Amino acid sequence: MRLRHAPWEENADFAIGLRAISPDAWLEGGEADPAVRKDPLIAAHPAETWAETEGSREAQAEALALVEVALGRHIAAEGQAPLLAAARATADDLCLMQRRDGDWRLTALCLCAPTFFTAAQVIGRSLADLHAPVEGFAERFLTRTRRVFDGLRQDLVLERRNWTLVNAAERFMPSAAAMRAQIPEIDPAESGRVLHLRVERQTLRRLPRTDSALFTIRVWITPLADLAEDRDRLSAFAKAWRSATPTFRNYKQLALYDRLIEVFLRAEGENYSVNGN
Ligand code: HEM
Repeated sequence: MRLRHAPWEENADFAIGLRAISPDAWLEGGEADPAVRKDPLIAAHPAETWAETEGSREAQAEALALVEVALGRHIAAEGQAPLLAAARATADDLCLMQRRDGDWRLTALCLCAPTFFTAAQVIGRSLADLHAPVEGFAERFLTRTRRVFDGLRQDLVLERRNWTLVNAAERFMPSAAAMRAQIPEIDPAESGRVLHLRVERQTLRRLPRTDSALFTIRVWITPLADLAEDRDRLSAFAKAWRSATPTFRNYKQLALYDRLIEVFLRAEGENYSVNGN
């Protein structure tokens, strides 16, 4: 089967997981006119999808210029915040990070495929505050992540992916509560169709003129049933589910899906039990 990203095959724990990619591979594209999807979301949910801080417009303009180079075309931005104009032209969500008060802070973002957070909740936050809900982040990753931001070089493009399991196919998911409330209603025989792997493909690069950084987020969603088309992929997923660390499982609330996953994997011929039997 064709699957663009399968990060669970590499990791079932929190990880920095950054790797350098070619600048040509920066934005994955493939969506003819992202504004068609994003504009109605931005109009209906302004505070969830867009936020900026004072003094961020110059760096926003640098981000816009970088996106224009990547897309190979001019983006009309008159009358709009530059980062908003750039985000409406790309499939990715765009987050601007700037050094403020001795730390890297989120100074503007356009977020149309949020995985359980909103622009209003995170605007202005430092790397430490953004990751406060991630158990162990401060001890395991914060210093290294700051160092990555400090050490970004021009033309270096970094990529990381994360994954979780959801029972929704929508990319716009500012909160998990309504979705999770529906889990008890799911017919286990429908698990492959109803459950989806949700991957965030993120990139990071430097904006040299304003000494800022641009973080991008692209969400890819695959029904679990698609994995069953390929035995190796299915086994790799079963292995990831079984080996996920307790903190990772707890943060992503994977236990809510254990029973459904067991039924799905057994129905597909995987010898799998959540009890290890
Ligand atoms: C490139 C450096 C970064 C690294 C290594 C990193 C790492 C992580 C990790 C390990 C998690 C836990 C979920 C997962 O990915 O498995 C996470 C969650 C998160 N990250 Fe990052 N991150 C980075 C940059 C950023 C930036 C620039 C933002 C700004 C938007 C951000 C916002 C978040 C948010 C909002 C969450 C969810 C926290 C919650 O549960 O509320 N991260 N990040």
